[in-house]
Amino acid sequence: MTYSTIQEAMNQGEGQVSVRGWVHRERGSNKIKFVVLRDPSNTIQCILKRTDFEDKWEDIDHLQVETSITLTGNIKPEERAPTGYEINVTNYEIVGSSENYPITKDQSTEFLADNRHLWLRSRKMTAILKIRSTYVQARDEFFKNKKFYRFDAPILQPNQCEGGSTLFEVKFYQEKLFLAQTWQLYAEAAVFALGKVYNMSPTFRAEKSRTSRHLSEFWMAEVEAAWYNLYDISELAKEELKYCIKKVAEQNPEELKLLERDPEELIKITETEWPTIKYREALKILKEKCNLDVPFGKDLRTIEEEKLMEHFDVPVVVTNYPKEVMAFYKPKDPQNPDEALCFDMLAPDGNGEIVGGSQRSTDIEEMKVALEKEGEDISNYSWYFDLRKYGSVPHSGYGIGVERIIKWICKLDNIKDAIPFPRNMERFSP
Ligand code: 4AD
Ligand code: MG
Repeated sequence: MTYSTIQEAMNQGEGQVSVRGWVHRERGSNKIKFVVLRDPSNTIQCILKRTDFEDKWEDIDHLQVETSITLTGNIKPEERAPTGYEINVTNYEIVGSSENYPITKDQSTEFLADNRHLWLRSRKMTAILKIRSTYVQARDEFFKNKKFYRFDAPILQPNQCEGGSTLFEVKFYQEKLFLAQTWQLYAEAAVFALGKVYNMSPTFRAEKSRTSRHLSEFWMAEVEAAWYNLYDISELAKEELKYCIKKVAEQNPEELKLLERDPEELIKITETEWPTIKYREALKILKEKCNLDVPFGKDLRTIEEEKLMEHFDVPVVVTNYPKEVMAFYKPKDPQNPDEALCFDMLAPDGNGEIVGGSQRSTDIEEMKVALEKEGEDISNYSWYFDLRKYGSVPHSGYGIGVERIIKWICKLDNIKDAIPFPRNMERFSP
């Protein structure tokens, strides 16, 4: 037997088809049963008539939601069916029964989170997961076209990179290690061999506050390139994101519409110029247009990012944050020594920071001072300083929070829905 997907069967439009999937909905009388069958491609109405299945009617009458079945029948267009076609079933087989499926209408968010392993089958989650898959595959395509190498770094690491307070400690035999906060330091070693590298890997941060934008385990999509400066790297981030978002809009219009995101609007965003401004200009906008007086020298908080972004409907790159409060590897701008050659990209609609990146410092002394200020033992970083001792070159990189992008693209209220099995302070199962 060869099976079609439901979508392929609908494309065929008439004649005999065999499909397989799960009962999405069912209703009927003692003469006829309507089953909406679901598979990864679509849903379709299937009709089973008692006159065709007299001896099996009891089974059919008891068919419940999420039973898996295979069936053969004749497909035809039917205006009144939910997806425009129906199959008149001539033969069927139950593969796996399902009784009293726990997910019914109007369940609480907590209940759905506890039953995430089943909730993944919902139309909403399936749409998000498809979009996530398109996004990630498009990104691979983008970097392959650009001749970047895929480079993988260890998850168990001896160093911090983004501040000690969010590190997860791991007992590693007799030693103490940390779960990766970023791939960056290893990617900086790799660019001296490979030039331009990218990856996407699990990233861990012990975030102590509960927000709609933070996960404890998330996927960071990172890039590092030799000979790139701040301008080159922040323009690459824009190009990468525009490419991937356009692919999603082209390949998943139905999924986007189901999530109430207009694909045309997304395409328009990718065809618009995304501005770059300096942190000092951002402070000016905040003061003049939002009546928020932020003194130079502080990182932007969520509220400030949101207020600033009320004045833009596409992502904005903000560069040159105050050197003083930036991570140790972000170099000072020789033109304005109180600023760092770094950037964040902020998304509209209250989504805040989606990308963080910078040019990398090549000044060992500057980095040592910054690390010591953070209370770090600089002897742990001697391997990293070697990269500056032996043929150092200017280089830059950035990291994209994959779930933050998916949250924005899919217009999700909470980042937890951008990942199949979320992890945060309160949620670590299933
Ligand atoms: O800005 P961050 O901390 O930058 C870095 O880690 C750099 N080392 C990256 C690099 O230059 N290679 O993190 C990068 C991005 C953020 O902009 C955000 O989108 C995401 O990672 N991110 C999180 N996403 C979800 N949950 C969290 N707890 C996140 N922390 C950061
Ligand atoms: Mg950041």
